[in-house]
Amino acid sequence: MFGKRGNSGGDTGLRETPRQPAQPAPQPAPAQMLPPATVSDFAPKQPAKAPSLSAPPLAPAAPPPMMSNQRSESFYEVKGQIFGALIEAIDLTQLAKLEPIAAREEIRDIVIEIITIKNVVMSIAEQEELLDDICNDVLGYGPLEPLLARDDIADIMVNGANTVYIEVKGKIQQTGIRFRDNQQLHNICQRIVSQIGRRVDESSPICDARLPDGSRVNVIVPPLSIDGPALTIRKFKKDKLKLSDLVKFGSVSDQGAELLRIIGRCRVNTLISGGTGSGKTTLLNCLTAYIDNDERIITCEDAAELQLQQPHVVRLETRPPNLEGEGQVTMRDLVRNCLRMRPERIIVGEVRGPEAFDLLQAMNTGHDGSMGTLHANSPREALSRLESMITMGGFSLPPRTIREMVVSSIDVIIQASRMRDGSRRITHVTEVVGMEGEVVTTQDLFVFDYLGEDQNGNLLGRHRSTGIGQPRFWDRAKYYGEQTRLAAALDGAEIDDVLGRK
Ligand SMILES: Nc1ncnc2c1ncn2[C@@H]1O[C@H](COP(=O)(O)OP(=O)(O)OP(=O)(O)O)[C@@H](O)[C@H]1O
Ligand SMILES: [Mg+2]
Repeated sequence: MFGKRGNSGGDTGLRETPRQPAQPAPQPAPAQMLPPATVSDFAPKQPAKAPSLSAPPLAPAAPPPMMSNQRSESFYEVKGQIFGALIEAIDLTQLAKLEPIAAREEIRDIVIEIITIKNVVMSIAEQEELLDDICNDVLGYGPLEPLLARDDIADIMVNGANTVYIEVKGKIQQTGIRFRDNQQLHNICQRIVSQIGRRVDESSPICDARLPDGSRVNVIVPPLSIDGPALTIRKFKKDKLKLSDLVKFGSVSDQGAELLRIIGRCRVNTLISGGTGSGKTTLLNCLTAYIDNDERIITCEDAAELQLQQPHVVRLETRPPNLEGEGQVTMRDLVRNCLRMRPERIIVGEVRGPEAFDLLQAMNTGHDGSMGTLHANSPREALSRLESMITMGGFSLPPRTIREMVVSSIDVIIQASRMRDGSRRITHVTEVVGMEGEVVTTQDLFVFDYLGEDQNGNLLGRHRSTGIGQPRFWDRAKYYGEQTRLAAALDGAEIDDVLGRK
């Protein structure tokens, strides 16, 4: 149609064997017709079986095993040959103008022609799989496509062309997926970041981007990443987890979930703390579900991940600098700006710099129920991180003043944790109580006790309240008519145990 093939009847100039008469569609060759040298089986070679006497002599060969993710060298070899021939035969810029279905049809025609010309023997199933692969390479994200299509994967981590890890059910596992070479991986990275008008190369080797489905992407390429481009994708989950899912997974108990619901509803200023991938954003999203519909909420994020269900939401996103290093809009710019947008609540996706100061200011000045997440391994560490973010942000405030500000702003810190068995748990709901001398005092309301491990390596434990009957936000809960539920949740979570806690 438009390929470089021109009008010469589809001759790609790549013929290796004399051209066969045009065939409608290549059929799997019967065993006895295999041409001598060009056979490339995709599956690892099976040892030849001695023919059984009772077997019919010309029985069609058993269909080759479907190609799994763990493909043989010969698969990549054949694919490489056909791919190379396709690239020579086709005009990629013209192809890019077609609708995906038409482009796929065009590729299909040419690939089938190349297979015929090159006399490669393969079954229909193998052809289809090869075609899928090639279409993914040319039109999509290549070998990543099957991973992107799976909803059970949380993260995809590509460490150069030959190593791809995924995280499923909290566990990191290596896949058999690989790229042709680092150049192919680089091209795919380039394709991803070009969608947001960026490029990655030696002069600009780091880039954050987003896939059209909302997945968060980070790319870092050589010379900064030494063994080829490193690509990390946090898959966007269409069906976000709800608090009830977290209870089902054992991340929090029923009473703990009730406590979180009350915290979300009663406009308690909340920080969610946790390590990378511990479920902070998920938890923040769960909490926002309990905000009343008539509140005006403004969210500030680096990459929009939150999915608020309320009608009155303004979503803001930061912007990295352009190639000339201009036009950056930081989280601090957003948080400061949203104070002029008459917010009732401000939700900051991730607090990691001087915006901590503005968020605390906002919490302190009538925007109750504001929330944010932050990287820290315990509630106490979250407090010191907050303090150092403000100090390093260039605010020349004495430590005591910063701490006083923290105490008067933050009500509750919720700690999320990804445990070594891959499970994610809420380990603390801790209140910021006040100051004793120079030190911020806190009290745990609800904690997770680690109790051991079962024979499958799953961690065992239990959630419990610490016996505090009336938390500091009791009056607030009363104001919202939630005091009875709060008391019931805290009482119900108390545990009578050998330590004599009740
Ligand atoms: N309690 C949970 N149980 C099972 N899976 C969870 C739980 N919480 C979160 N996840 C899953 O874990 C992955 C990471 O979650 P999330 O993005 O919320 O983490 P995060 O702490 O915000 O990560 P980051 O530090 O990278 O921002 C997601 O795929 C999410 O669906
Ligand atoms: Mg997050």
